[in-house]
This record gives sequence, C-alpha cells and structure tokens, in this order.
Amino acid sequence: MHQLYINTIGCQMNVYDSDQIERALTPSGYSRTDQLEDADLVIVNTCAIRSKAEQKAFSFVGRLAKLKRRNPDLLVGVGGCVAQQEGEKILARAPHVDLVFGPKAIPRLGRLVERVRLQGLRVVDTEDTDGFEELDLASGFRDDGQVARFVTIMQGCDNFCTYCVVPYVRGRETSRHPDRILEEIRMLVAGGVREVTLLGQNVNSYGLKEDLGSFAELLARVDRVEGLARIRFTTSHPKDLSDDLIDAFARVCKLCPHIHLPVQSGADRVLKRMNRQYTRADYLERIGRLRRARPDIAITSDFIVGFPGETEADFEQTLGLIEAVGFDGVFAFMYSDRSVAPAAQFKGKVEDALKKERLQRLLRHQEVFTLRASKRLIGSVQDVLVEGFSARPGLAGDHAGARQWSGRTPGNKIVNFDQDTDCAGSQNVRPGLLVGVRIEKAFTHSLWGRPVWVEEKPGGSKGDTCHAA
Ligand code: SAH
Ligand code: SF4
Ligand code: F3S
Repeated sequence: MHQLYINTIGCQMNVYDSDQIERALTPSGYSRTDQLEDADLVIVNTCAIRSKAEQKAFSFVGRLAKLKRRNPDLLVGVGGCVAQQEGEKILARAPHVDLVFGPKAIPRLGRLVERVRLQGLRVVDTEDTDGFEELDLASGFRDDGQVARFVTIMQGCDNFCTYCVVPYVRGRETSRHPDRILEEIRMLVAGGVREVTLLGQNVNSYGLKEDLGSFAELLARVDRVEGLARIRFTTSHPKDLSDDLIDAFARVCKLCPHIHLPVQSGADRVLKRMNRQYTRADYLERIGRLRRARPDIAITSDFIVGFPGETEADFEQTLGLIEAVGFDGVFAFMYSDRSVAPAAQFKGKVEDALKKERLQRLLRHQEVFTLRASKRLIGSVQDVLVEGFSARPGLAGDHAGARQWSGRTPGNKIVNFDQDTDCAGSQNVRPGLLVGVRIEKAFTHSLWGRPVWVEEKPGGSKGDTCHAA
C-alpha cells in the first residue's frame, strides 16, 4: 500500500475533487493519510480565485522540496485551478514537482501517476476535454464518518464575471447526467450520509445546455432518495434564479431553507462593470420572492470590496443593501487582480489600505444582522443533524467543560449542545442522528441549546417523514 496525502485549498468543488482524487488512486494501491511525513505521494489541490490562495499553494509546494530531499522517492503532484492555469510553468518553477494536472484530468490520474512512478517522467495534463467525464464509481468511497457530503453536478462556468478566473480554469459549463448524480447519492446514503450539497458555479442553469432536465427536476428526483434527510445546493447566480427554483423551496420537502445568493455589490455601476447582469433592484425583488415562497429561508451572500472604480458612494450602496436584505451571514473579499480576467486591465484600482478599511466596515456592519438572525431562533426547537463533537467544551451544569455535540439547523446555523439527562435518548446521540434542540443562547457564529428529542435511528420517526408511505 502507498500513502497519499492531499492538501485541499479553495472551494467545496475542490473538497469534492480531493475525494475524487483519492478514489481515482485507490485502484493503484494508494490510501489516504493525514500524516504528511508518511506520504509516498503528496498532492496539492490548488485554488486561483484570489492571489492569496495562489500564494498559499506555492508556499506549500515550496515546503515539499525539503521533504523530498529527505525522501527522494516522494512524488509531488499539483492539481486544481492553479495547475490548470499555470501548467508546464509549475515544472520550471518547482523542480521537485513530478506531476501537474487540471480538474478535468482526475479520471485519468491513475495512469498519470503510473507514468511518473514507473517511467520516472515529469507529466503535465491540463487538457480541457469536452463533457463531464465520470470516474468509475466501483472504487466506492472511504467511509470516514461524515454525515454531510458534497456532490458535484456541474463543472465550469459560462458567466465571465470580469473579476473571476473560474471560466478560464474550469472551462465551459457542463452538466453531469442526472442518473450518475442519483447513483452517487444513493451510494453515499447507503454508507450513512444523510445530507448532500449539490455543487455547481451556477446550479440554476443545470441541464439546460445538454437538455438533461432542469435543476428543479433534479431536486425533485434527489428528494425521493430514501434515507436521505437533507438537500442543500450552492451556488446560484441571481440573474438566473427561476420561478421554478423559488417554488422548489416551497415544494421539495428535503430541501433546506437556505440559499447562498452572492450579490458582490449593492451599486448598479459596479454590478455592470462586473458583468453580473442584474441590478440592485432585480436582486431585492428576487429576495422578496424567495421570502414569500419560504418565509423562514436563511439568506447568505458574497461581496467583493474595492472592485476597480468602486467609489465611497458605491460602497455605501453596498452597506445599504446589507441593511435592506438583513442577511443571515456573508463572506466578503478584497478584490484581487487575476491576470486572465478582464478587470485586471480596468482603471481606477483601489488601494489596499482602502480595501482593508472597507472590508472591516462591511463585516462590522453585517455583524448586527448575523446576530439578529441567530437571536430570532432563541426559544424555538430546531432540527439539528449531528455532525460530531464541537471544538469548544460544554456550557451547562454537569457537562460544563465536557465535550459537546455539534450540528447544523436546516438554515445552516451551527448548534452546539450538551448531553442532557432530562432528555430521553440523549445518551444515544451520535453523528448522523437528527436531534431536536431548544435554542437558549445565540452567538455570532453559533447557537447553543438543550436537546428535547433524539431520533431513534437514522430515518426513524423524526427522520425521513417527507415521503412516508
Ligand atoms: N460561482 C459563484 C462564486 C464562485 S467564487 C458565484 O457566481 O457567485 C466565490 C467568491 O469569490 C465569489 O462570489 C466572489 O465574491 C469571490 N471572488 C471571485 N473572484 C474574486 C476576485 N478576483 N477577487 C476577490 N474576490 C473574488
Ligand atoms: Fe465566477 Fe461569475 Fe462564474 Fe461565479 S458566475 S464562477 S463569479 S464567473
Ligand atoms: Fe478556487 Fe477553483 Fe474553486 S479557483 S474557488 S478552487 S473553482
């Protein structure tokens, strides 16, 4: 057996891809380790979205040179979006790298690694093949006890937002066949998974190009998978948010009431220069429709501050939008020049110090709303899908200082809770069970409460009640 260590940087797609890398290399005798020192093959799965992510990848690759001097048999591979973007250049820059491969080369990875290992070649595969290439599902997946998993349903992106590298490094938008998606989800569920997050850069346009049925139709099919308790998806582009999808929040029983709907800016001038193809008013109108369809829906978003040409007045419009929507939470990033993306050539670059200041102001402005959204849940009983132990010790009575359980609400908020002798079944709590938790405390990034009921077995009385006979 060979040991494989994977360092994953970047978005959920890369988290999914790292699992696929592991699966692709299982037939060649690799098994995954979390000990870097034990590895025979180290793969860095890289992200190119901002320069910081790229730097992180190169600094990790740099560290591997020392490891390879100590162990000359060690193989080093660079995958993901930086690999796709830089290709051969990585071999020149880092003489200890043996293999460079793009996200679409993962199904070919077994053969690529064999060439490196048996023929001693340095190999690059950044070919952008058409269509969604499937990895053979026969190698299954390693059951590492995770109850919530990602499932990629589309690759690439056709939107060409002017700041973004994704269309250049992940290629054209391609949807995966629904039968393959369903097959994978059934396999995961058979292994104990209870929640899936369907991944694509813009799930709203799933299947349209290939005539594979719409995203709403896919959701309806996933909803019928027995034993699955929850469905989430990310990301949707505001311009394509269809009535069908909005309706799905009212109709699809297992679909969690949470949408991540990146807006990027609250100023029309900026949205236009970003090529986002919606206005502030369009966005607000869609938020209204979502809330009418599903009043308890949690809404989160992404923002970029300091996009070229962003003025103080533009930025204030963004703060105003944050207030108008009252998001449950946001991610915000300082604009980062990506040489392949058109905005790199735009005039009116905003200085770093000002970007930093705007980022801080935005996050401070949002904090009130994040806390408000959490506090709203105090007193309610939330269905929490237990994922494992919390990093923080318990808060209550006998259990103060002991390990506490952690999971998420349907609205994607983290809830921690202690064992509680007043609640029957509390001693049976384990990852994968749904637990009803009465929320007593709200913090900015988590909630705390007491269990009031515990599902007896996955899919038991409180579990898959959606399609009960
Ligand atoms: N497909 C998703 C987002 C993918 S990238 C969408 O359409 O929204 C995740 C987030 O990174 C984006 O929402 C954006 O906020 C941020 N981002 C992308 N490119 C960036 C850049 N050049 N500089 C700073 N942030 C960026
Ligand atoms: Fe990037 Fe825009 Fe595509 Fe999202 S929709 S991945 S931000 S180009
Ligand atoms: Fe990064 Fe590639 Fe994802 S650039 S954000 S890892 S699609």
